[in-house]
Amino acid sequence: MHYLDTGAGEGAPVLFLHGNPTSSYLWRNIIPHVAPLRRCIAPDLIGMGRSDKPDLAYRFADHRRYLAAFIDALGLSRVALVIHDWGSALGFDWAHHHPDRVERLAFMEFIRPFERWQDWPEFARELFQGFRTPGRGEEMILEQNLFIEKVLPACVVRPLSDTEMDHYRAPFRDPASRKPLLQFPRDLPIEGQPAEVTAAVNGYLDWLTQTRIPKLLFWGHPGVLIPPEAAQRYAHEFPNCRAVDIGPGLHYLQEDNPDLIGRELAAWLAEAARA
Ligand code: BEZ
Repeated sequence: MHYLDTGAGEGAPVLFLHGNPTSSYLWRNIIPHVAPLRRCIAPDLIGMGRSDKPDLAYRFADHRRYLAAFIDALGLSRVALVIHDWGSALGFDWAHHHPDRVERLAFMEFIRPFERWQDWPEFARELFQGFRTPGRGEEMILEQNLFIEKVLPACVVRPLSDTEMDHYRAPFRDPASRKPLLQFPRDLPIEGQPAEVTAAVNGYLDWLTQTRIPKLLFWGHPGVLIPPEAAQRYAHEFPNCRAVDIGPGLHYLQEDNPDLIGRELAAWLAEAARA
């Protein structure tokens, strides 16, 4: 697995986990705010970014295994997590099973269960139903590269530049390389399926309503997975949780307001040093 490793300071290293279809590149304008305070580590999930592309099914359980091995291989005994999208599912799941190794949790546009398709964002409903349909999903994601070419730019408020889009395209030049991009939407916990991912997500959400580990939730409007009303509800349900409105944002909030996220994150991490 490829990873960025920069910064230094007192306190647990900060582990930044990206989601689909991004990479550690997502954190490029946020890490500079945190690096003066803490060691910052940002891996590319297996099969993504500059990480290797072994022949895996790229199920949630595969990513979970690689992430846990990565954290242990780096000897990270305790971390602060900054997590997004599938990086949030993996990070929350790891935290749920290793609570003593978690100093703080910051998260945005995180994976939560959708009990009915009607609850899934309307603008993306047909698209994601297509991704989950055998044959159609392969055509849409492996052949047409729609997760990169359509979902990514549609879920950032500002236009991404050609240079930025090229960074995101680079790891996924041919259909075979896009397997992780297809498997993630198929693993989303929608209407209880797949059952094992739904169980893992319900497990960490339940844990998050109990643990007092300090939490920071960034939300934007209108958002995609976490619209404003869901953000308010979670901020209320999760103990010790501060919520920060980043202003206009869809799913990739890091692309729309990285400086605000970086500044708030740095201030919140500095509180740990004072505590
Ligand atoms: C996802 O990776 O789950 C996702 C990405 C963009 C919009 C909605 C969901």
